[in-house]
Amino acid sequence: MVTLKVNGQTHTLDIEPDMPLLWAIRDEIGLTGTKFGCGIAQCGACTVHIDGVAMRSCSVTVSSASGKEITTIEGLASPDGKLHPVQAAWIAEDVPQCGYCQSGQIMAASALLRQKPNPTDADIDGITNICRCGTYIRIRRAIHRAAATKA
Ligand code: FES
Ligand code: FES
Repeated sequence: MVTLKVNGQTHTLDIEPDMPLLWAIRDEIGLTGTKFGCGIAQCGACTVHIDGVAMRSCSVTVSSASGKEITTIEGLASPDGKLHPVQAAWIAEDVPQCGYCQSGQIMAASALLRQKPNPTDADIDGITNICRCGTYIRIRRAIHRAAATKA
């Protein structure tokens, strides 16, 4: 049995300790906003926060995530439904195209802003999440917008 705390809720799951966290989030807990892309920590589609840090959940075992605060895209808004400033900025800048990478992009961006409230373009370029639709320019604009909103 492995216990995971996801978006403030504790789940005790009958799974192997070396299961990738992404599998547990999607298939066991049923939160499908976090996406599977490459499965080898390259694309970032599966990004979640673990203790506030952006991590690629396809490459984190459930045993290493146990006992930590895990946040997925479904848990980013406040409990009263108010969007995170990054989510609001994403809507304002109309960032997504196909959308597949976008929950990972938003999780990476929100973790960056936690570390660097006013990131430079170089800081933003440090996000290595891949977007096959090439929305990078709108992502950059949205992160700057979110930074300005928070200030
Ligand atoms: S699915 Fe995890 S980094 Fe691509
Ligand atoms: S919006 Fe299509 S992969 Fe990023």
